[in-house]
Amino acid sequence: MKILVTGGAGYVGSRVVPHLLSQGHRVRVLDRLLYGAEAMLPLTAMPGFELQFGDVREQDSMRRALQGMEGVIHLAGIVGEAACNVNTEFSWSINHGAVANLLESASEAGIGRLVFVSTCSNYGVAEPNSAVDEDAPLNPISDYARAKVLAEGEVLRVNGIPTVTVLRLGTICGLSARMRFDLLVNEMAREAVLGRPIDIFAPEAWRPFLHIDDAAEAMGHVLQADPALVTRRVFNVVGENHQKTSLLAIAREVLPGLQASIVQRKPDLRDYRVSGKRFVSTLGFRPSRAVADAFREVAKAVKCGYFRDPDWAGHSAVPIDGFPAQ
Ligand SMILES: NC(=O)c1ccc[n+]([C@@H]2O[C@H](COP(=O)([O-])OP(=O)(O)OC[C@H]3O[C@@H](n4cnc5c(N)ncnc54)[C@H](O)[C@@H]3O)[C@@H](O)[C@H]2O)c1
Repeated sequence: MKILVTGGAGYVGSRVVPHLLSQGHRVRVLDRLLYGAEAMLPLTAMPGFELQFGDVREQDSMRRALQGMEGVIHLAGIVGEAACNVNTEFSWSINHGAVANLLESASEAGIGRLVFVSTCSNYGVAEPNSAVDEDAPLNPISDYARAKVLAEGEVLRVNGIPTVTVLRLGTICGLSARMRFDLLVNEMAREAVLGRPIDIFAPEAWRPFLHIDDAAEAMGHVLQADPALVTRRVFNVVGENHQKTSLLAIAREVLPGLQASIVQRKPDLRDYRVSGKRFVSTLGFRPSRAVADAFREVAKAVKCGYFRDPDWAGHSAVPIDGFPAQ
């Protein structure tokens, strides 16, 4: 299949794109390259790969990127509350505003399949004694999640694209060529290896996690699925749910140097446990990597010195020099 991946040069995209290429797909990435293009360099010589610099908000860029494509995975976005707070207008224009352009341009281009990548953050605070499924009320408590909820609604209502699917991913963990250490598991692994103590806030809060390679495979799986099973449907994609205390217990087993303290302050109000059963039962795909695997992989990479500077501020969704004016 010929697939456009928007935001493909980002943390998740840098694992998704090589996975799709390895499955025999042709892949074009449309990316504003807000965090650079280094992660794409090993792919540039690969047959079937193309990188287009451009903005998902611009009609011309989007139309050009869609030419000749059959499917789209929409990853482009300003990700997480901290990055969105850098410039809320800019973030809204991408996380919500650009979706109208995406849907209109993809409909015009005759795209058959669209996978819209969303987040379990949309659940916000949920009843912690049970895992929320896709029919649970959404309770977004950040601009990031509010924009995703609105965008999801527009995607599910579009008429011009035959097969549209929304994937709500858990918090991603694991290695990527565009590495992010502002994600809990990755950060804990780095801090353990560097021998620095970490503070765990809201220790009882539940959070769903997903290994980055499972995220990549899940997206590939949806693109190949029987359209009748996936169209106009929302799926949570989750590997494991953990309270931060149980995450810490795993981390202590896997990362012997970890020093962590529980801090009874609650700066992050999100608290939700998420069921990924619909995805498993509908598609027969079960995430197979554990959070412990991600801890090990990231810790090994830091320990072996694979990152020139694991503390580099660019290993984050928050841009080093702010976002561009437009
Ligand atoms: N990382 C996670 O834990 C997580 C969890 C759930 C969902 N997601 C979703 O996965 C997607 C990717 O997240 P990520 O962690 O890879 O983030 P990231 O910040 O590493 O990557 C985002 C990419 O989008 C690009 N981009 C941003 N605005 C653009 C624009 N206007 N035009 C073109 N490209 C643009 C950036 O340049 C970057 O390459 C997002 O949609 C996010 O909501 C991520």
